[in-house]
Amino acid sequence: MSEDLRDWLEKVQKIEEITTIEGADWEWEIGAITDVSGKRDIAPAIMFDKIKDYPPGFRVLSGSLLSPRRVALTLGLPTDQDTAGLVNSLREKLHQWETSLDKVPPRKVKTGAVTENIRTGKKINLFEFPVPKWHEKDGGRFIGTGHVVITRDPDTGAVNLGTYRVQAHDANTTGLHISHAKHGWMHINKYHERGQPAPVALSIGHHPLVLCVGSAAVPEGVDYSYLGAMMGKPFDIIEDDVTGLPIPADAEIVLTGWCPPDKTRTEGPFGEFTGYYASGAREDWIVEVEKVYFRNNPIILGAPPGRGHMEYSYYSALTASAMIHNELDKAGVVNVKGVWTHEIGGGLFIVVCIKQTYGGHAKEAGLYALQFTSKGNVIRRFVVVVDDDIDYTDLRDVVWAMCTRCDPETQIDLIRGGRSTPLDPRIRKPAASYVATRAIIDACKPWAWINEFPDAITVNPDTVKKVTTKWGAKLGL
Ligand SMILES: Cc1cc2nc3c(=O)[nH]c(=O)nc-3n(C[C@H](O)[C@H](O)[C@H](O)COP(=O)(O)O)c2cc1C
Repeated sequence: MSEDLRDWLEKVQKIEEITTIEGADWEWEIGAITDVSGKRDIAPAIMFDKIKDYPPGFRVLSGSLLSPRRVALTLGLPTDQDTAGLVNSLREKLHQWETSLDKVPPRKVKTGAVTENIRTGKKINLFEFPVPKWHEKDGGRFIGTGHVVITRDPDTGAVNLGTYRVQAHDANTTGLHISHAKHGWMHINKYHERGQPAPVALSIGHHPLVLCVGSAAVPEGVDYSYLGAMMGKPFDIIEDDVTGLPIPADAEIVLTGWCPPDKTRTEGPFGEFTGYYASGAREDWIVEVEKVYFRNNPIILGAPPGRGHMEYSYYSALTASAMIHNELDKAGVVNVKGVWTHEIGGGLFIVVCIKQTYGGHAKEAGLYALQFTSKGNVIRRFVVVVDDDIDYTDLRDVVWAMCTRCDPETQIDLIRGGRSTPLDPRIRKPAASYVATRAIIDACKPWAWINEFPDAITVNPDTVKKVTTKWGAKLGL
């Protein structure tokens, strides 16, 4: 049996990073509590139970990955590290996982926890589950936020897991909003080009690792092996008899059905990861659900986007930073000391820290970092390159470097016509093409006269230690 959400919950209970809220309303209250709690740097996971209109046990979990310790525990990293330490451990793990994929293909089983309850035909009712209406201006209830959409390439047979939002339209129909060119979009589009419905499975609750893999730019066709590599043993799957797709055997809830080529419904608006309702409401794909599997006392895994620091922005910042750093290494950019895609920018603000080694080094690092779409997120806005005396994970230090080392005339480059999406709030809709300008801000000391650059004020670390020992208590340090 694969490790599942219930195993994960036990571990999180042991480190006392979960709280239960009873009696919240699925309409706005679950979303509001998630938002208010998630604004803090470290917030507990929240299990919502006894939700208004629903029987006890039909639950929603949010904030699962909103603390460095829980992310570390989930990814199998040491739990006592700061953000920079976590990124570095993750970089090593990525290498290990990538090289062991062929050793841990998914394991096919006949039944699993998810087959405890099955609904077909008229018995299907998606609102049997406490699907939240997350934000007040959302156009409906969104069942898929911490979920994965499972699709197959009709030509190669490659299976993909991707997190693309899912609105519950009615008892047996969901929406599906996927940006063009993402793996799931390409798979479904291939069926539609042939005039055929595309098979789709939606896993709505599962171990948070499944969400990590679904929302990261993992190469096509290896998501289940990736999960196996991360868990250290093959991931259990069941072949769904409606679509033939492999579904997680120990998931909480799985919906399977078809995305027809000739039908759409109005989807959205939905509060998106940029903190806006930028893509509005449009006609979009649907999934006609033919089978629902769920465990006893099922749990919806929620990870709604929001404005600024939220669960999604935190854990995806970690994976994106590790991936971008590894890509810079692969590209041969030397002396990269760290990368952090600050949570506040939701992937639109990347800081690269280098030890300047030659003229043009900062520009090279900035250009490469800007072009990597490692997060699978095609909106990029700013890359700031800083020297290695700057704490690149601290926005105050980064802004100080920008204000004191960057000459806007010569150290800001604009890359026009970069790839973007309808989710970009800065693009006026409707647009003929979703492209936007990206900027590289070189906030490093000018290489040509780096040795003459004024000394920065510093306090000797030995003196800091001495005074802290002597007077720290008085200062509340
Ligand atoms: C909570 C959440 C919601 C997301 N919603 C969408 C979405 O609606 N559409 C989309 O294209 N990408 C969305 N993403 C980003 C994708 O999951 C991400 O780009 C991922 O890499 C896609 O998988 P793929 O690379 O296999 O296509 C979302 C991510 C998260 C965590």
